[in-house]
Amino acid sequence: MITLNRDAPDTLYQQLFNYFKERIVSGEMKPGCRLPASRVLADDLQISRASVVNAYDALESAGLVVSRVRRGLFVVDKLPVLYTEWMLSDGDFIPSTVAAQSTAQEHQAFISFSTGSLPIDFMPVEAMRRAINTILDRDAGAALGYEPTEGHKPLRRAIADQLHSRGMSVTADQILVTGGCQQAIDLAVQSLVPPNGILFTTDPTYVGLIDIARTRNLELITIPWSERGIDLNMLENIIQERHPHLFYLMTTFLNPTGAVLSMPQRRQLLALTAHYKIPILEDGVYDGFDYEETPLQSLCALDDSGLVLYASGFSKTVVPGTRIGYLISSKQLHKRISRVKQAADVCTPGLNQRAMTELLRSGLLINHLEKVRHACKIRRDALLAALNRFADGVWHWNTPSGGLYVWIEIPSTGPTAADLHQKAAQLGVDFAIGNSFSPDAAWPYHLRVNFTSYPPPVLEEGIHRLWTAWQSFAL
Ligand SMILES: Cc1ncc(COP(=O)(O)O)c(C=O)c1O
Repeated sequence: MITLNRDAPDTLYQQLFNYFKERIVSGEMKPGCRLPASRVLADDLQISRASVVNAYDALESAGLVVSRVRRGLFVVDKLPVLYTEWMLSDGDFIPSTVAAQSTAQEHQAFISFSTGSLPIDFMPVEAMRRAINTILDRDAGAALGYEPTEGHKPLRRAIADQLHSRGMSVTADQILVTGGCQQAIDLAVQSLVPPNGILFTTDPTYVGLIDIARTRNLELITIPWSERGIDLNMLENIIQERHPHLFYLMTTFLNPTGAVLSMPQRRQLLALTAHYKIPILEDGVYDGFDYEETPLQSLCALDDSGLVLYASGFSKTVVPGTRIGYLISSKQLHKRISRVKQAADVCTPGLNQRAMTELLRSGLLINHLEKVRHACKIRRDALLAALNRFADGVWHWNTPSGGLYVWIEIPSTGPTAADLHQKAAQLGVDFAIGNSFSPDAAWPYHLRVNFTSYPPPVLEEGIHRLWTAWQSFAL
C-alpha cells in the first residue's frame, strides 16, 4: 500500500519515486516486475497523472526501470552499478564513514560534479549511428573529403533555420562552422583583438575564455556580474578609459552561475556598446537549454548595429565529441575570420558536419533534446532538494532556469572552496572551484556543481558527502 503525505516537504512525485526506488533497490520488486499503469495508479492514489508520470520518468532516468513499447514500465534486469555498490540494506545510502574508505571500489564510485557536459548516457548514440550510416550510404567518398572552410552548406542552412526559430534572422552565408564553440570564440578573438590587445569580459566568466586570453597574451579586463546583473556604469567608465577591442559575454545561463541577463540590461548594453563602437562576442552555447521560461532574445537577435558576433554549437545540448560549433558575424567579418580558420585547421571534419545536418533535418534531435531537458530538470530539482535537506540556511545557491550548473556560496567563516575541494575528494566527490572562473580569483567561497551527470539518488549522496566534508572543518 502506497501512502503519500501531501504536507511533506517532498513533492508527491518525489515520494512516489522514493517509494519505488526503495523497493527496487532492496530487491522487493524483482527484475522484470511491471509497474502499475500511470493512469491506474493516479486514480488509485487520487493524485494527478502528471505526478506519476514524473516519478516514472525519474525512475527511468535513474536507470531503475525500462519502458517497453505498448507494454509499460518494468524493473531493469541489472541495476546500475552505482546502486549495487552504494546502496545499503538498512537505508538509502552508504554513510560517510564507508564513503571515506579508500578502496578501488570506492574510487569507481567517485561522484564528480566538476564536469562541463552532459553525461555520456545522454548521448544520442542510436540516432548518430543511423545518421552516419545514412551519410556513408548516400554520400560515399564525399563524406570523407575536405569541406569548404566555411562549413558544409546544408549544415549552415540547417543552423540558420534553427536560429530563425529563435528570432535570429541570419543567413547561411554569415555562418562559419567551427571545431566546437571554443574554436568559434578563439577565431573571433584572434580576428578582432590584436596581439597585446584588450579583451573585456564579465566576472565570473567562462574559464575557456580566460585560457584564450592567457595563451594569446591579451589583457583581460572584467566587469562584475552580481545578482543585480552587469555593472553597466562601471562598464561605461572602463570603456572610456581602456577602449577594448572586444567584449565577450554569455547572456543566457552564464557558466558558472546560471545567470540570465535581463531584457532591460540587454538593451542598455547594446546601446552602450553601439555608442562606443565596441564589438560584442555573445556566447550562446547553452541557449535552448531552458527548463521553464520562454528564452529571452539573444543580443544577436536584438542588434541592428552589426557589431554583435554570436558563438554557439551543439556540445552542451547534444554531443560534445563531434566538435561542431559555429560563429555568426557580418559578411565582411565572416571572410576575414574564415581565413583565420583556414590557417588553423582547413575545415571541420566533414563526416561530423554531415551527420549533424542529418540529425537536425530528421527531427530526431528535437525529440532527443526534449527528453534530455526533461531528465536534466528532474536532476536539477533533485540536487536543489538535497541542498535544502543538508545545507539550508548555511550555504546559499541559485535556482538555475537552464544550463547544467548550480552555483553555491559557502560561508567565508569556514574553509575556502579550494580547501573544501581537497577534503571532499577524500570523501569521493568533487566540484569546480569558484576561483577558476575569474582571472582575479574573485570567488574563493563558491562552488560550481554540475547537476546533470547522475540520477537523483546519487546527486543526493554527492551533496551528503560535500556537506560532510564541509562540516568536518568545524569539528
Ligand atoms: C560558455 C562556454 N562556451 C564555450 C564552451 C566550449 O564548447 P565546445 O565544447 O562546443 O567547444 C563551453 C564548454 O564548456 C562553455 O561552457
